[in-house]
Amino acid sequence: MKSSHHDHNIPSTPGKFKPEKSNLYHRFRLHYSHPTKPTFWGFVFLCLIFIIFLNSSPSDQPLKTQSWGGSEWEKRVKSSSKIRSKSGFSVLVTGAAGFVGTHVSAALHHRGDGVLGLDNFNDYYDITLKRARQDLLQKSGIYILEGDINDAVLVKKLFEVVHFTHVMHLAAQAGVRYAMKNPKSYVHSNIDGFVNLLEICKSAEPQPAIVWASSSSVYGLNTKVPFSETDRTDQPASLYAATKKSGEEIAHAYNHIYGLSLTGLRFFTVYGPWGRPDMAYFLFTKNILKGKAIRVYESGDHGTVSRDFTYIDDIVKGCLGALDTAEKSTGSSGKKKGDAQFRVFNLGNTSPVSVSDLVSILEKLLKVKAKRRVMKLPRNGDVQFTHANISLAQRAFGYKPTTDLQTGLKKFVRWYEGYYGLRKKSHH
Ligand SMILES: NC(=O)c1ccc[n+]([C@@H]2O[C@H](COP(=O)([O-])OP(=O)(O)OC[C@H]3O[C@@H](n4cnc5c(N)ncnc54)[C@H](O)[C@@H]3O)[C@@H](O)[C@H]2O)c1
Repeated sequence: MKSSHHDHNIPSTPGKFKPEKSNLYHRFRLHYSHPTKPTFWGFVFLCLIFIIFLNSSPSDQPLKTQSWGGSEWEKRVKSSSKIRSKSGFSVLVTGAAGFVGTHVSAALHHRGDGVLGLDNFNDYYDITLKRARQDLLQKSGIYILEGDINDAVLVKKLFEVVHFTHVMHLAAQAGVRYAMKNPKSYVHSNIDGFVNLLEICKSAEPQPAIVWASSSSVYGLNTKVPFSETDRTDQPASLYAATKKSGEEIAHAYNHIYGLSLTGLRFFTVYGPWGRPDMAYFLFTKNILKGKAIRVYESGDHGTVSRDFTYIDDIVKGCLGALDTAEKSTGSSGKKKGDAQFRVFNLGNTSPVSVSDLVSILEKLLKVKAKRRVMKLPRNGDVQFTHANISLAQRAFGYKPTTDLQTGLKKFVRWYEGYYGLRKKSHH
């Protein structure tokens, strides 16, 4: 059984706690009043070594893993992953407490697939929202295990307990601008974590088929629209994009060497209920309601900045379509036995909308006028426009987005008002 970081129990009766605390304090003071004692300096030395050891983690994000192991735990993992329909799948969903992960997990479970979630619940954005999504999934019997995709011991154990047929890999460090604050988190999750996962999948018996989230950001400074999968993607505009592009190349190498079946999905600005609070449509909604000014970007020559906003339900359909058409991996005992499938698809909406029109739609839905501050798009990672060509996904699994921005935002606003209406204090 691994130790848990939730184990620290603080005494609930302050009256009892106080004298103990002052005793400790006195004991410490007693030692401190004799600093020349060798035992004291020995203690300080040990503490220093311990602190240095704690800080020597190669990454800025220590691996957080909740307690796991034991027969009860295995039962829970198996029960969540259990296939409940004829020819269903058993899917490991990484990033299951995230925006897309929650929706995909719910949809898979709904149709009878077994789903086990894995998420490290990092604090890139409001953890209470991730916990609320976890609660939602837990109510329908989906277990999200708290752990990092870099934790090889844990991930290996999961593959020992369950023979996953598929992995839906959605865990990542998302967002473009956060790279200026925490660049290593992108390498930690999008590169190191992905390699760790692929290493374990390649040795798993049987090898699962893997569908993973890439991003429209790989198109970078491309100016040819609509973006096609065959377009060049070697000019990333952000570290996020660079790590997502690396992911595609790393995946290709694992497919080539080990026969892993791999499908990359390039999502285009996904939005909807339970969305990500760091994204523009979410931040705009929050600030418009608060009466705060919002930054509306335009390009250098007063040109519009636009996005191919894609509604979450359409993305979910695309994810399921990709899983359903994924062929089996061909390797066994860590060795390739034949060529395996390697695919990359755009999942977008094919109708870009300017950010200024997005704000106008929100104003109407929220019935509040926005205080717009029009600004030049800074050169810190965002591109001027995105626009997907989706014919490949259409051909492969009939992908066809059906929700326009007006309709999708209406659903988002309804969810937002309900969710934060109940939790006004914690958010505003
Ligand atoms: N939402 C979009 O518009 C969009 C667009 C393009 C690509 N994507 C990609 O789609 C995927 C899902 O995005 P999302 O919008 O749901 O983001 P999200 O941040 O809501 O979800 C990602 C989840 O992964 C978890 N996670 C991060 N690093 C982890 C690690 N090392 N180990 C375990 N869990 C980890 C996070 O806690 C989070 O819950 C990501 O790969 C993202 O890059 C999203």
